[in-house]
Amino acid sequence: MKIAVTGGVGFIGSNFVRFVCKKYPEIQVINIDKMTYAANPLTLEFLSEFTNHTFMKLDICHATEIKEILNECDIIVHFAAETHVDRSLANPETFLLTDILGTYRILEVVKNSRSITKYIHISTDEVYGSIESGSFAEHSPLNPTNPYAASKASADLLVISYIRCYKIPALIVRFTNNFGPFQHPEKFIPLAITNALENKKIPLYGDGQQIRDWLYVLDTCRAIDLLIEKGEPGQIYNVSACQERKNIDVLCKILKALGKDKNLIINVPDRIAHDKRYSLSSEKIQKLGFYPVYDFEKGIDETISWYVNNEKWWKFIKNSPEFQKYYKSRYPDL
Ligand code: DAU
Repeated sequence: MKIAVTGGVGFIGSNFVRFVCKKYPEIQVINIDKMTYAANPLTLEFLSEFTNHTFMKLDICHATEIKEILNECDIIVHFAAETHVDRSLANPETFLLTDILGTYRILEVVKNSRSITKYIHISTDEVYGSIESGSFAEHSPLNPTNPYAASKASADLLVISYIRCYKIPALIVRFTNNFGPFQHPEKFIPLAITNALENKKIPLYGDGQQIRDWLYVLDTCRAIDLLIEKGEPGQIYNVSACQERKNIDVLCKILKALGKDKNLIINVPDRIAHDKRYSLSSEKIQKLGFYPVYDFEKGIDETISWYVNNEKWWKFIKNSPEFQKYYKSRYPDL
């Protein structure tokens, strides 16, 4: 059996590739990644130990090449996407191209393929927008509030249209915020850990009272594994951790674990249209037998240890001209 993973050098994608390669040595994993700024080439070194892993540098928007490769596979798990909200506010175009056009290219292959038995479309809680209290279910209306979320919601709608019109064997899975090893330091938790390790200020947006529900990345991999086996094509599944935390509390926890002072926190202007709280109900996937096994405290300790022990990996990104330019443009004085 062959599984194609798009975006398999990114954060969740690379964790999933490792998870599958380890758990199913008999399955061939074809890892397709464009290697944008978000893919650290050092991540590939961590995957090189697996003989059932093949990497291909490829842009999912290239119809002919993508067709040739995906056509030989049985299952597709589609992670490849531009994912950082702040970057989407500054430059939305790449989000529309990768997240929407890229998904369309893959859907066309799935539509015309005889070998693909399942297409897992990776989505996000951001498509529902913010919720003051309670949690969104799979049938809740989509209400994206930033260009990243809108591009993911558009891709979801495209997938739904292909399910309805062409009966493709697709399902959509929407996760809450992921954290864990190999996450790019532009994101909140890895930025906080690595800035703290470097004794640099850590930007906290607005009042820091925003709430996210933190799912450890290995639980995400377990959920996808289960959906490959038991998920029903045509369905949408939410996956939450039920571990909601305020940003300020997450930050204080990280600083405490690293023995650093709270004066490293610097309050910066809030993100435009910042969603106050994300929350999903995941009763539907629970009925299939899925429950997260990592609690936040265990997950954050493992994540911190990983960044402490893998300085070479994150310094490669943080010292790159691309990251320096990005960070300086946001925080000229930090
Ligand atoms: O909810 C799922 C989504 O989680 C994924 O679909 C996105 O791809 C992923 O980027 C993430 O979106 P968020 O915007 O929630 O993640 P981020 O790590 O950028 O920010 C988490 C929270 O921390 C958010 O409320 C903004 C805040 N924040 C973020 C950064 C980078 C800060 O206060 N300071 C920061 O420097």
